[in-house]
Amino acid sequence: MTTRAHNRASEREAYAAFINSHPDYAATGMLDRLRAEQYGRLDRQRHTYLDCTGGALYADSQIRRHAELLDEHVFGNPHSGSPSSAAMTKLVERARSRVLKYFNAPPGEYTAVFTLNATGALKLVGEAYPFAPGGRYLLTFDNHNSVNGIREFASAKGSEVDYAPLTLPDLRVDRAQLSAMLDRSDARASNLFAFPAQSNFSGVKHPLELVHEAHAKGWDVLLDAAAFVPSNRLDLCAVQPEFVAVSFYKMFGYPTGVGCLLVRNSFVSKLQRPWFAGGTVNFATVQGRAHILAPREAGFEDGTLNYLSIPAIEIGLEHLQQIGIDTIQSRVNCLTDWLLHELLALTHSNGRHMVRIYGPTKMSMRGGTVTFNFYDPEGHLVDYRRVEELASRERISLRTGCFCNPGAGEAAEGLTEQDMLAGLEQDVEMTLPRFLQVIQHRGGKSAGAIRVSLGLVSNFADVYRFVQFAAGFQDQTKLTIGEVTFDIDSCRIIRDGA
Ligand SMILES: Cc1ncc(COP(=O)(O)O)c(C=O)c1O
Repeated sequence: MTTRAHNRASEREAYAAFINSHPDYAATGMLDRLRAEQYGRLDRQRHTYLDCTGGALYADSQIRRHAELLDEHVFGNPHSGSPSSAAMTKLVERARSRVLKYFNAPPGEYTAVFTLNATGALKLVGEAYPFAPGGRYLLTFDNHNSVNGIREFASAKGSEVDYAPLTLPDLRVDRAQLSAMLDRSDARASNLFAFPAQSNFSGVKHPLELVHEAHAKGWDVLLDAAAFVPSNRLDLCAVQPEFVAVSFYKMFGYPTGVGCLLVRNSFVSKLQRPWFAGGTVNFATVQGRAHILAPREAGFEDGTLNYLSIPAIEIGLEHLQQIGIDTIQSRVNCLTDWLLHELLALTHSNGRHMVRIYGPTKMSMRGGTVTFNFYDPEGHLVDYRRVEELASRERISLRTGCFCNPGAGEAAEGLTEQDMLAGLEQDVEMTLPRFLQVIQHRGGKSAGAIRVSLGLVSNFADVYRFVQFAAGFQDQTKLTIGEVTFDIDSCRIIRDGA
């Protein structure tokens, strides 16, 4: 039997075992048909796409429907009285209501502000939230840099900034410590608590009950839902944070360049925009040096919206609804569970584990993002940059680095404040690869990892191919960084050869 035929046979066997252990997968079969019909380019190119947290892929029909819409109409810049403008305004406003409906926002409770992306939505909160001396900005260690960055606005306005720690090895929020920190709100000032509904580093789903707990203790809540909503339901009737940030390309791949901030209406008038711009004012005068901000979303949408792309959001949401978010979640859960199990089972001939996973290894309260590193038979860390190169040769798209989530990485890899300060001491040219060299000499720690993430386009063949690729690192010794030996199970250094 040729190797290829042998691999095909073993893929069939593996699939049979997978279906046996994950019977729920069978009910997601419509996604296999959809992949063949709408995402055929993946299999035509033998491309294994494993970066769904980086960005979802679009279906052919989304592009076709959007192109047809543009082809059939004359669309102008919205918000004026001409027919071309009125036609566009109608579709922009329809998309806005559709977004609110998709997230089941109670009528009249939320406003949807279109932004460039989730980062744009988060920046709007940062610059307009009434941070002031005595107030606080509390966030979890596990946050994207676009949420970390809000601390600059908070501290510039005199608010205290504090981070709630994570527990090891699962990288979940330390509920007891968080609870104690939430007790420290100041009722005379504004207090903002921010956390991601799902980690873009570890895949942990942080409990949405934190929204209730924070409210009860006097906090406003910013929920970063960017990595959560592509495969989970966010129901704003059930949880009602003051702010929710999303990027639509992460949900359905197309269009890029449009995100959304959902703001609770009761909070809109408390936000203080630091400037005004075209489109955000009802009235502005040069001689009077005054302006009157437009109400609701208009006061937050600076300049001209990405109006031609916005109708594609309605198309994308319909696409997700036709599939059903529960179907997507179920598929992602089954495939992630299998992937975790297979990666954990990989060992070198000497019995040492090949993979260390950062975050939970069971599916309870976790999504389809799996972050890890490979280790060689001696316990040396395999260079993840080399892994990415090798994966690319096999047409596997994955991601390496720290995924713009430094706090989760620091917690996962046991990096201390001193380690980070040692890195910062170097020079302004500090990058992740240079930092890696610095901390290799500080007890052989590592920084950065490999991330594989699954979504609605993922199928068994994708994860099977990746596990085959991973198994190829068995007994490989020439791909490591430095000379430091780890015990993967205890995460302790065994020998530092430096
Ligand atoms: C959890 C999370 N928040 C925020 C962002 C920022 O999204 P964007 O780059 O689309 O602004 C990302 C992007 O990866 C993310 O995963």
